[in-house]
Amino acid sequence: MQIFLDTANLQEISKGIEGGCISGVTTNPTIISKENKPLQKCIRDISALDPDLTILVEVVSLEAKDMINEARQLSRLANNIIVKIPMTSQGLASVRILSQENIRTAVTLVFSCNQAIAASCAGADYIAPFVGRLDDINADGLNLIKSIKKVFTIQNAGTKIISASIRTPQSVAELFISGSDIVTVPGNILQAMYKHPLTDSGLQKFSEDWCKVPKEL
Ligand code: G3P
Repeated sequence: MQIFLDTANLQEISKGIEGGCISGVTTNPTIISKENKPLQKCIRDISALDPDLTILVEVVSLEAKDMINEARQLSRLANNIIVKIPMTSQGLASVRILSQENIRTAVTLVFSCNQAIAASCAGADYIAPFVGRLDDINADGLNLIKSIKKVFTIQNAGTKIISASIRTPQSVAELFISGSDIVTVPGNILQAMYKHPLTDSGLQKFSEDWCKVPKEL
């Protein structure tokens, strides 16, 4: 079970690392566009915060041969890169070649069980279903994760599920219960995961009561 952060923002990532429970970062072209610096610098800066961090970086090419070249370059940017490839036929053609070269891939923009099956058969190490975007259009993101998990378990597929596009803290636990291997969350959701009013009031009471304990002379 792993939690990733869905951001390229160094402050958010530093805070996440200090918080102790994240082991990776996911990016996409939209996320990178918010940082106002070149992709390569974004990735190197993230890796400098913690070289062990898994970093997912997405190709922007659309043709397989271009995606493959781009993926080879991206995979050399830091220690622990997984290349995100879009869920298209050209994307899966490149996944097949990249898996033969031991370049790890995550097929992204997955919205159906059949897409997940196709990506896994092509050799994807990970798939990233966008749970929140399905919920946004009144579909059922959580149910998709349950279906994919069921198929991967029955078929003994090695592909791991990274649930992405997370909208609420509650959905994180539900996604893990439903079989997600990884959930990638924005910084605000990660912070919300730590919080519970009973933890706060419990800690307040412990502090107050500790003041009543006679201290050694
Ligand atoms: O990791 C994918 C994620 O960034 C998409 O999230 O909020 O744009 O649907 P969102």
